[in-house]
Formats: sequence, structure tokens, C-alpha cells
Amino acid sequence: MTDGFVEGMPKAELHLHIEGTLEPELKFDLAARNGLELPYASVEEMRAAYDFDDLPSFLDVYYEGMSVLRTEQDFYDLASAYFRKARSQNVVYAEIFFDPQAHTSRGIPFETVVDGLRRAQADAGFRTQLIMCFLRDMSAESAMETLEQSLPFGDWIVGVGLDSDEKGNPPVKFAEVFARARREGYRLTMHCDVDQENSVAHIRQCLDEIRVERIDHGVNVLEDAALVEEVRRRGLGLTVCPISNSYVTNGFKEREVKAMLDANLRATINSDDPAYFPGYVNENLVAVQRAAALSRDEMTTLVRNAFTISWLDEDERGRYLDAVDEYVESATQ
Ligand code: HPA
Ligand code: ZN
Repeated sequence: MTDGFVEGMPKAELHLHIEGTLEPELKFDLAARNGLELPYASVEEMRAAYDFDDLPSFLDVYYEGMSVLRTEQDFYDLASAYFRKARSQNVVYAEIFFDPQAHTSRGIPFETVVDGLRRAQADAGFRTQLIMCFLRDMSAESAMETLEQSLPFGDWIVGVGLDSDEKGNPPVKFAEVFARARREGYRLTMHCDVDQENSVAHIRQCLDEIRVERIDHGVNVLEDAALVEEVRRRGLGLTVCPISNSYVTNGFKEREVKAMLDANLRATINSDDPAYFPGYVNENLVAVQRAAALSRDEMTTLVRNAFTISWLDEDERGRYLDAVDEYVESATQ
């Protein structure tokens, strides 16, 4: 099992916050372009200030960083930089999260964000789709307004998700919003961040009350045998982010990834916010492979799972899975 085998594989990424790909260099460029002063003298100083150790302390840095994103061109440049990086790592399909409320709350129009992302998608050179996340530490009313704002752009947005600070913000807070999103034709996913207060209860709510199709993170599912069985029975996907986990909780959660594979859960490996948790999808795959000594077959399963649980139609999904299988058959590494 070599790193090259994983690096060369055609891959999908399903848990990637586009605002979390804002690298310090681009942050400086956008600040200069928009006439903004940053409180750091250099890229090194900025990185040194990234001293988070849990979800809330990460989120403070993440939201502060976004203040440089102002114009349609800024969102275009942000997404284009991620798409270039993803392509260089053989990502052939990506579903990317964006956080409209983090921008509309600063006075940036919804369409400025979507237009920039959309234009970057057109130039990406591979297939991508957008997932709109609601910020769970804002009100359900604000989420509903955002859902309504999105409707004219509905053809450009494949689904909705839920992110930001989970503490005190359970899935059921957004039951009506997600029910409406389903009726409007959106696919449904939600973050169940790792090692949160009430993680297991939140996963249960996602299944029973929201009826999500995927769970973002969701590692704590393993603490409850009935939940594991239900997630397996429904074929739900889990988008695990090892390097992110190592920053906001502890370790790559590689034993949990291995346990998910052993339990026939559809686990996938993703990068979450790679500008803050350093490592794009290949680094995440390699980290978990090394830490858990995963086999070539197990790595292939993780990569195949991402296409299996992706929000693509059956033809497209089949073509990507065939490409993975061809790669594995012909790989000499
Ligand atoms: N969890 C919650 N909120 C987030 C995340 C995450 O992984 N990334 C960006 N916002
Ligand atoms: Zn996330």
C-alpha cells in the first residue's frame, strides 16, 4: 500500500466548506484588493494565530477570515483556487458547502456569493455541485429566510446542510426548515460534529426527525449499536474528516474509520476546512491509511463510498465507479 496508489485514484470530495479553503496568501490578496487592513503582518503571523483546539475556537477564526470576501470576483477566486488544488489531487467530483448567512449577515447579497461560485464551477474543469449550509447558531427563522432566498437559484444548489456551533443547537431546531427544503427538492445532510455534547442524541434526531440522507462527521454513531444498525440498513453515508478531527477533538479517529468499514457503514474521507486544518483530500486519506494501516481494498472502499453516496444520478455514479475500478485494476503501485 503506497501513498501513490491513493494519490493517483480518481476521487470525490463531499465535505468541504469553500470558505474553509481560504488560504492565508489569498486572504492577504483579497484584503489588499478590497482596501482592508488585516491584523497580521505576514502569512506566518496569520497562521500562528490559528490556535484553536475545539469547534467554537475554530469557528471564531473561520468567520473572522471570511471578512475579506466581498465581491463576486472574490468568491470566484476562492472557489477557483480550491478547484485547481482539488484537480491536482485527482478529485474528479466535488460537492462543496457554502455558508450564505456568514455573508448576507455582513451585507453581501446572496446572489454575489452564488454567482461567483457558479462561475468558478463553470471553469473548474471537473464536475461539482453546491450544498447550502444553514448556521445552526443562528435562528430557525433566519435559516427559513435563507432557504427562501435560495429558491430562485434552486437549480444550482443540490442540497442543504447544517453547520457551525452544535452546542445547544440540535437538529430538531431546524425540523421545519429541513421539511420545507425537502419539499422544494433539495437533498438533505447535517453536521453531527465529533465528540459534542449529545452527539448520539443528535445523530438519532437526524435519522428519526429530519430523515437526512447523509451525516457530516457522525463518528459518534459507533457509541450506539442500534444507531449503527440503522445507518447501515438505510445505507447512509458518513463524511469523516480526519485532519479536522485531530484539531478540534483528538486524533485522526482512524480506529473509528476502520470500525465503520468493518461494520459496513459508508464512511468517506474528506478535508472539511483545509486552509485551517492543513491537508487536502489526499493528505487526509494518507493520514488515515497510515494511522490505521488500512489495506488497498479498504482505501478503495473509502473512495468508492464517496461516489456511492454522492448526489449524482445513477449513470454518472456508475461511470465514476467504473473509473475507480479501472484505476485499481491497472495500478502497479
Ligand atoms: N463543523 C461545524 N461548522 C463548520 C465546520 C465543521 O466541520 N466547518 C466549517 N464550519
Ligand atoms: Zn464541516
